[in-house]
Amino acid sequence: MDEQDSRGLLRFVTCGSVDDGKSTLIGHMLYDAKLIFADQAQTLELESAAGSAGEGRLDYSLLLDGLAAEREQGITIDVAYRYFSTERRSFIVADCPGHEEYTRNMAVGASTCDLAVILVDASKGLLPQTYRHVRICALVGIRHFVFAVNKMDLVGYDEAVFTRVERDIAEVMREYRVTSCVCIPVSATEGDNINRASRRMSWYRGLALLPCLGQADVVAEANEAGFTLPVQRVCRPNSAFRGFAGTVATGRVAVGEEVRVLPSGTTSTVERLLVAGADARAAQVGQAITLVLADEVDVSRGCVIERKSAAEASSFFDATLLWMGDAALAAGKNYLFKLGTQTVPGMVYEISYRVDATTGEHAPAKRIEKNEICACKISLGQKVVYQDFAANRTLGSMILIDRITNETAAAGIIEHKLNRSDNLTYHAMDITRGLREQALGQRACTLWFTGLSGSGKSTLANEVEKRLHALGRHTMLLDGDNVRLGLNRNLGFTEPDRIENIRRISEVAKLMNDAGLIVLTSFISPYVRDRRAAAEVIGEGSFLEVYVSTPLEVCEQRDVKGLYAKARAGKLANFTGISSPYEPPEYPAITVDTSCESLESSAERIVALLAARFE
Ligand code: ADX
Repeated sequence: MDEQDSRGLLRFVTCGSVDDGKSTLIGHMLYDAKLIFADQAQTLELESAAGSAGEGRLDYSLLLDGLAAEREQGITIDVAYRYFSTERRSFIVADCPGHEEYTRNMAVGASTCDLAVILVDASKGLLPQTYRHVRICALVGIRHFVFAVNKMDLVGYDEAVFTRVERDIAEVMREYRVTSCVCIPVSATEGDNINRASRRMSWYRGLALLPCLGQADVVAEANEAGFTLPVQRVCRPNSAFRGFAGTVATGRVAVGEEVRVLPSGTTSTVERLLVAGADARAAQVGQAITLVLADEVDVSRGCVIERKSAAEASSFFDATLLWMGDAALAAGKNYLFKLGTQTVPGMVYEISYRVDATTGEHAPAKRIEKNEICACKISLGQKVVYQDFAANRTLGSMILIDRITNETAAAGIIEHKLNRSDNLTYHAMDITRGLREQALGQRACTLWFTGLSGSGKSTLANEVEKRLHALGRHTMLLDGDNVRLGLNRNLGFTEPDRIENIRRISEVAKLMNDAGLIVLTSFISPYVRDRRAAAEVIGEGSFLEVYVSTPLEVCEQRDVKGLYAKARAGKLANFTGISSPYEPPEYPAITVDTSCESLESSAERIVALLAARFE
């Protein structure tokens, strides 16, 4: 087989600022190499007559700008994917918008690519956007960079100009762990060094752009690494066959080799290996395979089968994230983290600092908005198998998914694990929750009261607790204002503070349940996802949501503490129901409206519900 044929498909992303000539460059590459269909070429000639190139010249950018809006505005607004092939290799190019507000689109386009072609205008040199494009490509895992230093025709094909830009690029790239970085002087409009070496720049000894892309080796490095296979699926077509399917993330594997399953650490031997449904002797990075192991080992989706890699399991990480969600990142909020084929709940428990996408400078931050980059600390609900990003792009990067909207909230990379995960081990104690419950003669649970300020939560919780006490139950009431005067005195009413308030209460309620107590909590707890997170911490089976649904008008009329009046007068910020949202529960265990039901009746109903569920 021809060596270059074995290079296979190359996915690359193109990034450039408006007017860098990105679309023209790719268009020229396709046109010159006769990679476009004849009818497309004819349309191009016709449209160019009316296009922006003038003088009857071809406007190559028209080839790429598939989107009508882009053609009207003259900028690329979404990711346009093009597929083309030469005799030697097939390519997929993701043409991404360069504007700052489309950072997210660029990250999405780049995340599936192995190489980035970054356009630089030779007459302008490196622009702030160039720094941002490099940072984002690096952040989503690209390690091969080609800088097309364009518009060389405008600077008289001057070697000195190119050398200056090349030096600046080398300076920028020092910050990143890249595998290859090439600079090529080109002219997209004139076709210099696009498909073949330009005679006008004989001082340049390297390859033209298309041959350079044709030769780029983006798998060698991943092939030399240890073998890792994130298991996507367990295949059991019949009782005689049990295979583990997935795409090889790094390295090679062969029949007869010993492998290890993570996180369990069990070892076995590769008995069979299937590539595209047929038996094979060996497989390498990028191939979709099915492995059959010699022993009966416990393997499920999310496990990683490895050999001589540094993959391991952990649940605390230092990470860098590019925030993509419309809603800002707030520490403490619960998300789903997807890493390889593993998906686990977790949270960003601390934002370390914001990273300026252009300058790389660090600044303290409490919130991270869309298109911003931050360093943060992550805690996951269970251990995941990971590897440092530098060694394994698949197991070293992740995305965060909003649990309510299902939207991708962020993409990021694991910098390294935090040691505290290794130094913390859950201890199973001899005196268990069951024994404590037995001693107290009751089943522990948490009654979670939620509702607006002044809805009657505390009064009702107090009444219920009195009745339980009279029945000989052992209880504890955690109340918003009281807890905020002690344990949570450092918290206010911004979204992140409310999240942290509820998180701490959930953990305290859980501890008290473990002590065997029936816990009543009375907090506004305005967000659905925080109450859901509380239910997860406490345990769904021990959690009863009591929705105190008294309407806002009634709460405001009562205004026991005078806070509604203050909020209306603009003297109290972020007041729930006025200037901060309240999300009612969808499926509460019980609903009580204190404006139309007596205290006695509602308390009685709650005690009865408790008895029905827990006795
Ligand atoms: S929560 O939203 O974080 O669950 P929590 O129940 O602890 O709130 O505290 C609410 C109590 O704090 C209210 O009953 C009220 O007395 C007081 N409070 C002071 N400022 C605010 C505010 N901006 N929004 C809501 N409650 C406030």
